[in-house]
Amino acid sequence: MSSIETQFLNIKAHHAQYSAINPKTLLKGSASGKIIFITGASQGIGQATAVAFAQAGAKAVYITARSEKALEETRARVKEANPETQCAYTVCDVTNEEQVKASIEDCATKFGGIDVTDSNAGYLDQWKKIGESDTTSW
Ligand SMILES: NC(=O)c1ccc[n+]([C@@H]2O[C@H](COP(=O)([O-])OP(=O)(O)OC[C@H]3O[C@@H](n4cnc5c(N)ncnc54)[C@H](OP(=O)(O)O)[C@@H]3O)[C@@H](O)[C@H]2O)c1
Repeated sequence: MSSIETQFLNIKAHHAQYSAINPKTLLKGSASGKIIFITGASQGIGQATAVAFAQAGAKAVYITARSEKALEETRARVKEANPETQCAYTVCDVTNEEQVKASIEDCATKFGGIDVTDSNAGYLDQWKKIGESDTTSW
């Protein structure tokens, strides 16, 4: 048994979106009026989260990552999901404090604040014990 199974008995595993978390049906409108700030939104979970917040009716989704071309792709997907949701981006490396500050300020200036932050940027290193991991990779 994996540790998740021993800690959370009767847990049900899902491998696809289910109705309770569907932003197009049950959660439609749940992000209405909200300004969402997402790091690492050029692909993967961050991109999917940006689209999901648009589907849930967010006022604005502000996206950041290092790849500008990929951010443009995410912005196109956000607009396709909900033309009412405003979307802007900055190219930002989250290991650079000045770039992070500039992105946050730009989001606040453009949209009037931030209601939700999703600090999603990152990567998965090889699985290791913390004590054996390379601290510079953090
Ligand atoms: N997928 C999983 O099963 C899983 C499981 C547990 C945890 N996670 C965590 O969930 C997060 C997203 O996972 P994912 O699978 O969607 O990863 P992914 O597809 O590799 O996407 C990572 C995102 O982070 C951005 N990023 C990476 N380094 C960055 C940096 N220094 N500054 C700014 N942006 C950076 C990448 O964009 P650019 O390269 O354009 O900058 C990309 O948009 C990660 O933190 C990951 O560790 C994922």
